[in-house]
Formats: sequence, C-alpha cells, structure tokens
Amino acid sequence: MINKAIILAGGTGSRLRPLTDVVCKQLLPVYDKPMLHYPLGTLMLLGIRDILIISTPKDLPSIQENLGDGSELGVSIQYKVQDTPQGLPEAFILGEEFINGQPICLILGDNILYWGQLNLVWNECLSLSKGAYVVGAHTREPEQFGVIERDKNNNVISIEEKPSIPKSNIAAIGLYFYDDQVVQHAKSLSPSTRGELEITDLNNIYLKNKELRAKILSRGTTWLDAGTITSLMDASTFFKIIEDRQGLKICCIEEVAYNMGYISKKQLLKLALNFEGSSYGRYLEQRVTDTLNR
Ligand code: TTP
Repeated sequence: MINKAIILAGGTGSRLRPLTDVVCKQLLPVYDKPMLHYPLGTLMLLGIRDILIISTPKDLPSIQENLGDGSELGVSIQYKVQDTPQGLPEAFILGEEFINGQPICLILGDNILYWGQLNLVWNECLSLSKGAYVVGAHTREPEQFGVIERDKNNNVISIEEKPSIPKSNIAAIGLYFYDDQVVQHAKSLSPSTRGELEITDLNNIYLKNKELRAKILSRGTTWLDAGTITSLMDASTFFKIIEDRQGLKICCIEEVAYNMGYISKKQLLKLALNFEGSSYGRYLEQRVTDTLNR
C-alpha cells in the first residue's frame, strides 16, 4: 500500500513571470488558497500522510513557513532542496532516504484536480506493489504534454513527450505511482538533450518491462493546468464557481484534515482562529458548528 508521497514544487515558473519573480508558482493563489494546497489536499484525501516537499533553495523557506511540519494538519511534511531544476525523476534521487525502499506517489506542485469518489477509484493505484501507474486525462491539446497511448486494458503502449503527431488525446497529468524500484531506475537515467532527467525516460523503463499501466480520469474529474496566466485565471474561476455554488470549499486542507479524522474538532477550531477575521476562518469554524452540511 502506498502511504508516502513527494510533491515536486520547484521549477522556474518562467511562463508566469513577472508573478513568479515575486512569489513561487506553487504559492500563487488559485481562487482562495495557494496552488500547493490543491495537490497537498489531494494526497490527504487519498489517505497519504507522509509527505516530502521538494523545491528550490529560494522558495522552500516560504513553503515551509506556510505548511510547517504538517502536525497541525495531522500529517508529516519533510522538505528537501533541489538546487537546480534537473527534471522530475530527480525527485526520487533527492528523496531516496525519505522513500526508504517503499513504493511512492509523485505529484507535481502545480497539479490541480477536482474529483468525486476519490478513494474507490484510486485503490488500484494505491495498492500497487509492482510496476507503475501514470495518470492521464483527456485534453484538446495533446501536443503540449506527455501523450499516453494505451490498449483497452489500460496497459501503456507508448508515452511520447510533446509529440508533433500525438497518438492519442490523453495527457500525462503529473501524478504517478511507482513501486520500490523507482530510485534505482531514476539513478540509471542520463540527462536528455535539454540537460534534464526525463520522466518519460523513467516511465519507458517500466514500459519496456511491461509494468506500466495508465489510470485515465473520467469526465467527472477535472484536471486544471495553471502554468500560464490564462490557465491560472481559469483555474481560479473554476473553483470560485464551484465553491460559491455549493458553499463548500475544494482542497481546504484544514477541513480535509478534519473530515479525514487526522485532527479533532478542537484542533480545527484552533486552526480557524489563525484565520480570524477572514471568510476562510469563518468557514472553518462553521465546519464544526454547522450540522446542515454533514
Ligand atoms: P514545468 O511546468 O515543466 O516547469 P515550471 O513550473 O518551471 O514552469 P515553466 O514551464 O513556466 O518554466 O514543471 C512542472 C512542475 O514540476 C512544476 O511544479 C515545477 C516542478 N519541477 C520541479 O520541481 N523540478 C524540476 O526539475 C522540474 C523540471 C519541474
């Protein structure tokens, strides 16, 4: 059973400059909360409570200041610096000690998902003991992403990075589940022509061993890419509409911690006090007192 995850939250965020000159991409707001809270909330909803966040030397202190050691949320958060963005598989090399020979989930710090029926759908990935799962979503612009070609049993046939002629309209979204061999495989990779270790090369090792499966998000699940100003605005609008309509927040990490039983009512009320004077704080208080929404 996978109970550990790495959030990779470094990178340069060059497409979001000048915003990212001031604040790192993963702390930029997506409607009412920092972007990073969405992948963190997702992991917490999956039942994963042992988390390593990797970011740049410049940005890691701000992230650490925001989330601390995770104890207030009933989870454990450790931190590791990635000196330069040398590619996604470097997460497994930097995280070797944290991974400690166990299977692991990797989620990118700018990965924003909105879904229902979380646990039921994901048990297959979480209970992985051999091989790997790459998560894919339908997209209109497959040529912008890693494109997954699969057979009818969801075995991956190919993954190609930003192909000019895509073999499907399924993009790899930045959520992966790997077995205990991942560190060894990551260490065997060589940098590509752009000087980075490539996640596609790592996945191709599993593919060659016939150990790579795809999990495709259905249309009941939304994946949002917030890498450009337009898509960042779109993501904010999306969550504004959903949250305004339902009166319920999405990936509110304090609420998730309470709903998942990671923290008590008393601990949630204490967290609500940290946000006193804001609608966010009032929302957290209502989670405890409001019986209508249970
Ligand atoms: P990218 O979208 O590839 O890059 P970026 O976030 O730096 O943005 P831009 O393309 O505008 O320059 O990265 C995806 C995610 O992975 C993002 O959260 C940053 C993270 N990342 C790392 O933390 N380390 C790395 O070495 C790489 C390549 C990405």
